[in-house]
Amino acid sequence: MTINRQQHWENVYRAKQEGETSWFQPSPDLSLKLIEATGINHGDAIIDVGSGTSRLVDCLLTNGYNNISLLDISSTAIQATKKRLGEASDSINWLISDVTEFSLDHPIKLWHDRAVFHFLTNEDDRIAYIHQLKQYLPAEGHLMIAAFSPEGPKQCSGLDIVQYDTHRIQQTLGQEFKLRESVCEIHLTPAGGEQHFNYFRFLRIN
Ligand SMILES: C[S@@+](CC[C@H](N)C(=O)[O-])C[C@H]1O[C@@H](n2cnc3c(N)ncnc32)[C@H](O)[C@@H]1O
Repeated sequence: MTINRQQHWENVYRAKQEGETSWFQPSPDLSLKLIEATGINHGDAIIDVGSGTSRLVDCLLTNGYNNISLLDISSTAIQATKKRLGEASDSINWLISDVTEFSLDHPIKLWHDRAVFHFLTNEDDRIAYIHQLKQYLPAEGHLMIAAFSPEGPKQCSGLDIVQYDTHRIQQTLGQEFKLRESVCEIHLTPAGGEQHFNYFRFLRIN
């Protein structure tokens, strides 16, 4: 399962340039706004899981955040991001791993996931993801998940996804996570399509 998933994403990033992927954002403004809304300190540990080649890290560095881990299952995506960042890449903690099974040597204050959790259509994978989340994000930690909404596509990158509204995401994550904010966004793909996303911001309460 893990090998197939990894192969899929390696193939995607080998075949496509950054701006050719449907999820490309020139500037991830909503993620940034929600991260700023948490009020975390610039030195607090942030992880972007399934970071791909997202420019979120560039914006976080520009805004002064300096304790950033980027995780992706695709080494091609990680290499492309390292290349884009140049010298600044030295300050990043890089992880090439499946999000359901990585290990880290420190806790996280803010966990960001845009369009990754929604690929976990298998319950065992969702359980493993949430186990990782709970292991590394202690109480008072912030969680941001962006997923396709029920008005959005049923697939992404040719793979089935799970659409989330506030009820479903809360049910899935459980009572340890308190919803602080949810925002709908219509993402315009580089090809001119519209994709309905829901962005959820949670606080871990216990
Ligand atoms: C739709 S893209 C989103 C990329 C990025 N978050 C963004 O918003 O631009 C999904 C990303 O998740 C990564 N990915 C998919 N499944 C994963 C998994 N199980 N563990 C880690 N990364 C995964 C893919 O390689 C890809 O970079």
